[in-house]
Amino acid sequence: MKLKRRQVLAGLAGLGVVGLGAGGVRYWLGRPENVASHDYELIAAPVDVELVPGRSTPAWGYGGQVPGVEIRCRQGERLRVRFINQLEQQTTIHWHGIRLPLEMDGVPYVSQLPVLPGEYFDYDFICPDAGSYWYHPHTTSSEQLGRGLVGPLIVEEREPSGFQHERTLSLKTWHVDEQGTFTAFSVPREAAREGTRGRLSTINGVSLPTLDLPARQVVRLRLINLDNTVTYRLNLPGAEARIYALDGNPIKPRPLGKNYWLGPGMRIDLALKVPAIGAELSLRNGPLRLATIRSVSSNAAPGDWPPALPANPVAEPDLSRAETLRFNFEWAATLASPNQGGPARYWQINGQAWDINDKTCADRPIATLKKDGHYIFVLRNMAQYLHPIHLHGMSFKVLSSDRKKIEPYFTDTYLLGKNETARIAFVADNPGVWMFHCHVIDHMETGLMAAIAVV
Ligand code: C2O
Ligand code: CU
Ligand code: CU
Repeated sequence: MKLKRRQVLAGLAGLGVVGLGAGGVRYWLGRPENVASHDYELIAAPVDVELVPGRSTPAWGYGGQVPGVEIRCRQGERLRVRFINQLEQQTTIHWHGIRLPLEMDGVPYVSQLPVLPGEYFDYDFICPDAGSYWYHPHTTSSEQLGRGLVGPLIVEEREPSGFQHERTLSLKTWHVDEQGTFTAFSVPREAAREGTRGRLSTINGVSLPTLDLPARQVVRLRLINLDNTVTYRLNLPGAEARIYALDGNPIKPRPLGKNYWLGPGMRIDLALKVPAIGAELSLRNGPLRLATIRSVSSNAAPGDWPPALPANPVAEPDLSRAETLRFNFEWAATLASPNQGGPARYWQINGQAWDINDKTCADRPIATLKKDGHYIFVLRNMAQYLHPIHLHGMSFKVLSSDRKKIEPYFTDTYLLGKNETARIAFVADNPGVWMFHCHVIDHMETGLMAAIAVV
């Protein structure tokens, strides 16, 4: 594919961009004057935020906020986003979980050239699946995502779902100290283990928020893990909560259960029956509180569980004629040589470590699939650390695991546990070169990525 660079912005007139003068220029999100419905102009720019009370953190945000502005569109409709880069470094946007054409996938040198400072890029694609998704850069990821370039993307169902109320809860743990100053986004000895964790856990950019929800109503909670590293063990003790969708894709509703492990990049849609007025619940990560849910007055009659959400139009893999491919995710710290030039390589897939500085890596795909062929991938974690394994461009069905009982479901990210082997399957119906990687960002940046070609 020939990649063409989009023009540099000559001027920002008419784009509704605001410059805040003092202390350097800061640009905000602008909506065009006569916006057609669901069209966005999205600006990435530095923005100072107060994550730690009384302290300012020099974050980078989409639309002047962290996490970025929530983008919404309707299933089957076109989403057109003019993305404007007002950062001092190049970037792209990847639309995590959306099955779209390769040119819109945001992978530098594969989908597009990086968007340079002052340039724009028009993303334009149809959202075939309803559900909770998100967006983020695919360049210099540990720093760019770490500084806040992450945002929710909600694709509404074609027909109204049975939910009257909903909230998006974006989970992120910031790499900041008590003064709100950024700490290292990726530390070699952590990258070679579970990944580099942040210290300050937040929901929608707020530490330990109180969420007011209408008493006795059923609320759809869209929980999105847009963190670099942390797998949240979500639980809501004492709550009546059911899972309606995993990673955007509807499932037959079932109780939340004791803990749900939400790895980086993953989403879960819950229906919560909010208790009677005055009651409180805590949304937790293992034993740690993430948020307090407070029940506040509502005049509406008590809500009941809505019906299951309609399935997304994902092709069903035919296992009887599927070809099986094996992928081993290995620890390779013996190869680590961060001081000998070149990036550190702590991880590899089938003996190959991805080099994020080598623009030609995608020219050597780890597997080449036939367009419309049916495939089973056997994913094997050879290490003790969790790997949320993500595929671009296509959704896959999780079939089985040697560690737990799986009710097969479609997803774009599977959390591969310690020494686990899992089987997934899909129809290779989207031509292109698709990234296949761990979503622990510093695992991805130190080798745990590959390209899968569909031709
Ligand atoms: Cu959220 Cu390459 O992905
Ligand atoms: Cu993705
Ligand atoms: Cu990993």
